[in-house]
Amino acid sequence: MDVLIPAERIHARVGELAAEIARAYDGKPVTVVGILTGCLIFTADLIRRIDLPLRVAFVTASSYRGETTVAGKLEIRDELLPDIAGRHILLLDDILDTGKTLTRVVAHLIDRGAASVKVGVLLRKIGRQEVPFEPDYVGFTIPDKFVIGYGLDFNDEYRHLPFIGVLPSGD
Ligand code: XMP
Repeated sequence: MDVLIPAERIHARVGELAAEIARAYDGKPVTVVGILTGCLIFTADLIRRIDLPLRVAFVTASSYRGETTVAGKLEIRDELLPDIAGRHILLLDDILDTGKTLTRVVAHLIDRGAASVKVGVLLRKIGRQEVPFEPDYVGFTIPDKFVIGYGLDFNDEYRHLPFIGVLPSGD
């Protein structure tokens, strides 16, 4: 497997993002909301380095392409989310691809009464975005390749790898 971003570079960049976030919120309490499951490692590493009063919560967002659902329809589940009315939210995802997931989840959190929503992604794929969306914090921009590791999966495998890798195409 090709390593696209080694663990040491991720560690260093996550530290920079944490410092940038702490500066921006300037002591204000923040509720970090991760989009499961891809956000798992990024969220765990980032929050431990953010020096702010902080709560953490999770939502899920899944696309269904089965026979009985509309292709690409996104289902957001927020049973694990506490009351976020009036809270400043930092929404985290593993990767910004088409932008559809984050656009929808941001709208959902605003709908639930968030005072503000900022967005952080570990990765942003170049040349894939279909809806206009600007994240506030980006770890790395990457080429249009399917990546795994550090929370990202292929068929639910590889999430535990400490680096971002690219699977061989098989040809
Ligand atoms: P959109 O297109 O809504 O999707 O921005 C973001 C979600 O798509 C998944 N995704 C990937 N997952 N490797 C993965 O393991 C990839 O290269 C990749 N590209 C997109 C991911 O779940 C992300 O939250």
